[in-house]
Amino acid sequence: MSSSTVYEATASAPVNIAVIKYWGKRDTKLILPINSSLSVTLDQDHLRSTTTSRADPSFEHDQLWLNGKEDEIKAGGRLATCISEMKRLRKELVEDKDPNAPKLSSYKVHIASYNNFPTAAGLASSASGFAALVASLAHLYQLTVSPSVLSLIARQGSGSACRSLFGGFVAWQMGSDPAGTDSLAVEVAPREHWPDMHALICVVSDDKKGTSSTSGMQRTVETSALLQHRIKHVVPERMQLISKAILEKDFDTFARITMADSNQFHAVALDTEPPIFYMNDVSRAIIALIVEFNRLSIANGQGHKAAYTYDAGPNAVIYALEKDIKQIVQLIVSYFPQRPSEFKDVLGLFGTASSDINTL
Ligand code: DP6
Repeated sequence: MSSSTVYEATASAPVNIAVIKYWGKRDTKLILPINSSLSVTLDQDHLRSTTTSRADPSFEHDQLWLNGKEDEIKAGGRLATCISEMKRLRKELVEDKDPNAPKLSSYKVHIASYNNFPTAAGLASSASGFAALVASLAHLYQLTVSPSVLSLIARQGSGSACRSLFGGFVAWQMGSDPAGTDSLAVEVAPREHWPDMHALICVVSDDKKGTSSTSGMQRTVETSALLQHRIKHVVPERMQLISKAILEKDFDTFARITMADSNQFHAVALDTEPPIFYMNDVSRAIIALIVEFNRLSIANGQGHKAAYTYDAGPNAVIYALEKDIKQIVQLIVSYFPQRPSEFKDVLGLFGTASSDINTL
């Protein structure tokens, strides 16, 4: 290896928006969920994280810059875990097999990550962030492993991040192994399967949210009786039904389940002690509008045409088919004329972790 060799790789990953929500952990260290979940990965340019990693023998510490500002890598924390797990894979899969392979696993890394959207506004920045981090280290370390294997590591950064390693419709199977080896993301259907599905992101507020997902869901696990009903009697059936609806491109069923699961997630947040409110008045007004829009469409024999869903924040994501998107955008903008520029029509819904490897 010449001393001038630069080991650097860049990868980017989009956000994903769950239609069956992950809410609650059975193991907080390994980030093992109490229920399986399912999401759609958004594919467009303005909701992505892009991460560049560099390994160099002269680096003294692993260091991370988030949107240009240095962020601490706490020993034993989520970032440190992801970095050390990726180094372990590099050693096991590359260096132990090929004595000539550069010992990158022993070098410190410098990582720079950018989000092109507001961090922690309920727009799943941790999901795209950890997915891009793991994807960029995988390229840096020249690992030829499946996205599901990488999802095992991204999961330990932030649960929902495991789903951003795939494009299209993605399930996070909760698994049963206490060590977490089977708690991973799998593809339900690729992006090409249902290309006329669109997502409309309505940015109601880009303030940093009040209660983080991590602490909120832990409080729900500790205090909500409704959560126990949800994980035992509701989510398993919904996972099956919505997977079938996706495979059959049955939008009516997809929409009904998506809205029901968003409602139940916010119900378990309310059932938490003390209660957690993620939606605000504008969020609820958007729900009322979509309910009325669907009521008229159902009365006309056309079934549901729009599905709202809300994560741990007030912003709405509305799933709809291409033929109906224009009408829905017009409807929302006419009822919320004070904020038309904040509602982003996200065309070309799907995406996957993409990369631009640059190992000189
Ligand atoms: C409401 O993945 O952010 O968006 O695993 O603690 O990092 P941690 O939580 P996180 O939770 C996401 C919760 C959600 C639902 C979902 O994306 O499934």
